[in-house]
Amino acid sequence: MSLIRIKINGIETEVPSDFTVLDAARQLKIPIPTLCNHPLLSPYGGCRLCVVEIKGIARPITACTTPVSDGMEVITSTPILEQLRKTIVELLLSDHPQDCLLCEASGDCTLQELAYFYGIRENRFDGKRRMYEDNDKNPFISRDMQKCILCGRCVRICDEIQGVHAIDYTKRGFDTKVSTAYDMDLDCEFCGQCVSVCPTGALTGKQWSSKGRTKDTKTVDTVCPYCGVGCQITLHVKDEDVIRVTSSPKSHNQGLLCIKGRFGYTFIRSPERLKIPLIRVVDKKNDDFGNGNIKISFKEASWQEAIDYIISNLKAIKDKHGPDAICGLSSARCTNEENYLFQKFMRAVVGTNNVDHCARL
Ligand code: SF4
Ligand code: SF4
Ligand code: SF4
Ligand code: FES
Repeated sequence: MSLIRIKINGIETEVPSDFTVLDAARQLKIPIPTLCNHPLLSPYGGCRLCVVEIKGIARPITACTTPVSDGMEVITSTPILEQLRKTIVELLLSDHPQDCLLCEASGDCTLQELAYFYGIRENRFDGKRRMYEDNDKNPFISRDMQKCILCGRCVRICDEIQGVHAIDYTKRGFDTKVSTAYDMDLDCEFCGQCVSVCPTGALTGKQWSSKGRTKDTKTVDTVCPYCGVGCQITLHVKDEDVIRVTSSPKSHNQGLLCIKGRFGYTFIRSPERLKIPLIRVVDKKNDDFGNGNIKISFKEASWQEAIDYIISNLKAIKDKHGPDAICGLSSARCTNEENYLFQKFMRAVVGTNNVDHCARL
């Protein structure tokens, strides 16, 4: 990729020729406010918040959709640009419920940050408002479309990254709404990619509703326990309980997760979770007519009891039938080190190559 020279706010720099003006400004750490832009998604140019002035172009132009060109001179902030941006935010807020007091996204909402930055308290645009009920019965994602600013990030990530295209714009003009086909309940992969990129409280997770906002939680980075892809996740912990899972855009999985990583954390507090070893007891009895009757139950055991039981039974099988009568099934949910040790145990201790794992479940 060839480099070209460009000047932003008087600072000269060299950037790759496939950069947009927004990319170039970000490389120089010059802030330009955005709502519809997302680094993983194709430029959209919908919100107009990133307008800049470019020498030789008569009117402000969106930085996120304008490719750089050699010798380009850009100004990112002037009183006129800031007034335009403020007006855009005012227009968005004119049709937006002012319920930050109750909103799940409060403190983690780009629209709220922009309103704060531009000091918008009263709104001079008073008009019709879109009124929708959030009555989608899907178990994972709350869709409060009154709070939608039509930035299209959810539509694009579902299509361009997830390849599902479960949602799109429906209707036209003021009535435009992000929705499913025929406005039905969401019935998709429930990866939650759309939730992760929504810059407002329009899309949130039902599982973490009213349990605590981002500011109320401490965060712990860890690795998803479900499969060998090993996505990096961030646990949001409140009162020693995991109430939400997100993923950093800087992670190797770029903040993308599947349904298991994003929503499958409630097992942590499940009362059905096994916490101590159970030894299976098979009770075989003949009834009065001589028919075999097998009753299986589980007996709680200490770890030492369970390990002794496994050792004695593996030894008995090996002595009677040889090591190849035994096979070991490991798990993609274990770490590399655990799987390494397991195959070593099967090969070097038990003496068989019969070892496999559950792959993707
Ligand atoms: S949860 Fe995933 S598949 Fe479903 S609408 Fe959102 S991005 Fe698309
Ligand atoms: S639901 Fe959120 S991400 Fe989707 S268009 Fe509306 S504001 Fe943007
Ligand atoms: S289960 Fe999903 S989120 Fe977890 S590591 Fe695998 S792909 Fe990533
Ligand atoms: S960020 Fe450029 S138009 Fe929305």
